Amino acid sequence: MNIALLGFGFVGQGVWHILQSNREQLAMKLGLHETDVKLQVVGVRDCQKARDNGLPASIPVTDDIASILADPSIELVIEAIGGEYPAYQYIQDALVSGKHVVTANKEVIAKHQQALFQLAHDHRVILACEAAVGGSIPLIRSLRVGFAANKIQSVMGILNGTTNYMLTRMLADSMPYDAALKEAQALGFAEADPTMDVSGMDVAYKVIILAGVAFHVDISIDAIPVEGIESVQLADMLHAQDMGYVVKLIGAITATDHGLAVRVCPMLLPDTHAMASVSNEVNALFLHGDCVGDAMMVGKGAGGIPTASAILSDVVAIGASTSTPVSLKPAQLVPLGDQETAMYMRLSVQDHVGVLEQVTHVLSQAGVSLKTVIQKNQGDEASIILITHPVKESVIQGLQLNELAAVLRIDAMVRVV
Ligand SMILES: NC(=O)c1ccc[n+]([C@@H]2O[C@H](COP(=O)([O-])OP(=O)(O)OC[C@H]3O[C@@H](n4cnc5c(N)ncnc54)[C@H](OP(=O)(O)O)[C@@H]3O)[C@@H](O)[C@H]2O)c1
Repeated sequence: MNIALLGFGFVGQGVWHILQSNREQLAMKLGLHETDVKLQVVGVRDCQKARDNGLPASIPVTDDIASILADPSIELVIEAIGGEYPAYQYIQDALVSGKHVVTANKEVIAKHQQALFQLAHDHRVILACEAAVGGSIPLIRSLRVGFAANKIQSVMGILNGTTNYMLTRMLADSMPYDAALKEAQALGFAEADPTMDVSGMDVAYKVIILAGVAFHVDISIDAIPVEGIESVQLADMLHAQDMGYVVKLIGAITATDHGLAVRVCPMLLPDTHAMASVSNEVNALFLHGDCVGDAMMVGKGAGGIPTASAILSDVVAIGASTSTPVSLKPAQLVPLGDQETAMYMRLSVQDHVGVLEQVTHVLSQAGVSLKTVIQKNQGDEASIILITHPVKESVIQGLQLNELAAVLRIDAMVRVV
């Protein structure tokens, strides 16, 4: 199998590392001789860039990507460049010229999956993207094949290694947000542009891909309510911990009678939940299928070598001729206002007798019942920290707590799993 590798950053180098160290095992899985699995060429943006890449002279490094895609001897292209363009064009060109494509690129797949899978189907080649969701964890193959007999009722995941790493470090060491982000970048977990990670967009792309595999629907990125971790405060992580919860950035899809409830946002997970102990760059997907009930998959969700492991699993699956065409239909989504979750709220209030009663009165007038309430006094002010029972988002957004003279600020509102 003659392979071209586009991109030689964290992930591309991880692919080369595994190809070298586990070549015999890969070849055996493909039913080939070791020498028949061949990295033929590496494509990069700037081939003049000094790099200590460990590639032998027999594997050229070029920035002439067009020549790679026009080379009829290349059978499979691994795209590890990232970003929408020019990666989208390269993937299309490779498919049209009859090459299988393996990509780690969630953005391109999330935005163009219908067109790309159709193109692959039309040209009788395979497009695979295991590494685009969940890093090393074979989520796509598990949903498509392992849980194929199930109607999937919900999937909920910690799907971004950078933010999970940051939230873990912030809580464990009271580390400021910026320092936690820098550490994640230095370890190669963060995207080139970390706003993709912290804004929740990276998770949103992955949720779209999971929706395609688990629910056979195509969702537009604009249709998903997305909140990142920028507004998560250490104070709330500590309060949540006191109340038996941990804050995680969650991507979730739930099938309801009215359509799919989809969201990406920070949420409080009860510390008894199977995903609560998923820390650092580790990712997890918790699903409910009608035949299997609850199931969870956990593994490293970022890093060059774990991601390359998923890429090479696709290479082996293609070599073993696993076909992966999909046909997607438009999704019917539940508007955010109609979605129900419990809500954690932290209010700063004047420290007077009866303020707590005023707040709970507003909530009960709106039909919001409370699971937990804590009041903490701090000088002239007090904090009221509460968790509601599940309630429609529109009810919470319509609460007029700000209009109570005794309420100084609403410091935080975080949804609870
Ligand atoms: N890092 C992770 O933990 C991780 C995890 C899961 C998925 N992914 C995905 O894997 C992909 C690669 O990520 P990465 O972290 O390896 O990125 P990276 O370290 O920034 O490397 C990107 C590579 O692509 C090359 N490149 C960029 N633009 C190019 C262009 N226009 N033409 C040809 N080559 C180009 C760069 O070339 P130069 O070397 O010349 O600059 C570099 O070698 C992305 O889609 C990312 O979302 C990454």
